[in-house]
Amino acid sequence: MGLKTLCLGMFFVIFVSHIYTPLPANIEESWKVMVLDTIAKTCTFMAICFENIGIMRYEEFISMIFHLDYTEPQSDEYVTVTDTTFVDIPVRLYVPKRKSETPRRAVIYIHGGAFCFGSFKQTALDFLNRWTAKTLDAVVVGVDYRLAPQHHFPAQFEDCLTVVKYFLQDKILTKYRVDPTRICISGDSSGGALTAAVTQKVQNDPEIEHKIKAHALLYPALQAIDSYLPSHRENEHGVILTREMAIKLVSLYFTRDQTLPEAMRRNQYMPLESRHLFKFVNWSTLLPVNYKKDYIYTEPILGRASFSLPALMDDRASPLLANDSQLQKLPLTYILTCQHDLIRDDGLMYVSRLRNVGVQVAHDHMENGFHGALSYMTSPFYLHLGRRIRDKYIDWLDKNL
Ligand SMILES: *[C@@H]1O[C@H](CO)[C@@H](O)[C@H](O)[C@H]1NC(C)=O
Ligand SMILES: *[C@@H]1O[C@H](CO)[C@@H](O)[C@H](O)[C@H]1NC(C)=O
Repeated sequence: MGLKTLCLGMFFVIFVSHIYTPLPANIEESWKVMVLDTIAKTCTFMAICFENIGIMRYEEFISMIFHLDYTEPQSDEYVTVTDTTFVDIPVRLYVPKRKSETPRRAVIYIHGGAFCFGSFKQTALDFLNRWTAKTLDAVVVGVDYRLAPQHHFPAQFEDCLTVVKYFLQDKILTKYRVDPTRICISGDSSGGALTAAVTQKVQNDPEIEHKIKAHALLYPALQAIDSYLPSHRENEHGVILTREMAIKLVSLYFTRDQTLPEAMRRNQYMPLESRHLFKFVNWSTLLPVNYKKDYIYTEPILGRASFSLPALMDDRASPLLANDSQLQKLPLTYILTCQHDLIRDDGLMYVSRLRNVGVQVAHDHMENGFHGALSYMTSPFYLHLGRRIRDKYIDWLDKNL
């Protein structure tokens, strides 16, 4: 029996045993979401099995699944699409074909995937970036940065920053006829973390001449120092993204050492010297009251871990750890959060922190939303939720960029 047959057989058995997982009551198109959620959980379960048997590593299996969904650059009647590199970093460029009298707006898009997977080549992202270019008559740049666990933090951050700095040069903006005062950086999930970190860096670096006009964070991850926020508890076994998956993958961003995920599960992994950082992610003060529910805030337990990982305290990995004077320099901000999302509270706390220092933030909250919904905008995995998130994001860009 070949590996393919074994995989299919396993997939079927696990799929059937997972299908009746209950969903939150207000999820629309619930049978479709149930199938998508079951596919995600089945793949995760298979990845764990394969890792335990020793066939391949967990993240290698998931990465293989992602690759099935990659597209080639394909121009259409409105947009010219090409794959190229900016300083050796792969990018996909979307340039509108229509002649424009004035320089164009531009969007740099940083994909999600827990720092381990994903690409601008994914069908849904290619669709979103093409849509952005066509609808806004904007130049769009999709960025493919180095991925974990082959590359740990800060490789991902550095690649994104390199692309942004390269693009912000006068000669490049002129080449693509981009207006330097109308540039946005956008990203979803872990791409939201990279977007926020790169934007903080660009806005605070006096050596970078052109600044960012706006940034958009779609169900972003924004901190890795507290793994037990109210949204983590509520969505521990959530739709598409579970706490176990997030911990397994995010720890690979920092290290392959298995003691990190073990300590993260208990939320006892930060060192004593990190105490001063917890005010920046204090959900007791930063979350609106309706998200706190009846959860009781407790002080973090520090100094229990056997490892030393300074990266965990780095604001380039956890943009919520930037201090108020750094946040003050941030541009117009769009943040979209989803109710049924493990990392919902990251986005909600960033809204509070930015508003507290006077940054203009537009915030959309999807009451029936869940993590990763933007991946479901194209057939056969089409959901109205995905399209609605796209439309809210694009509307905001159109009015504010
Ligand atoms: C978090 O906020 C609560 C309530 O405002 C406060 O009692 C606690 O000391 C704060 N903890 C940290 C680490 O900032
Ligand atoms: C904020 O952080 C920046 C960069 O880490 C640092 O240079 C600055 O002194 C800090 N400001 C305050 C008020 O703590």
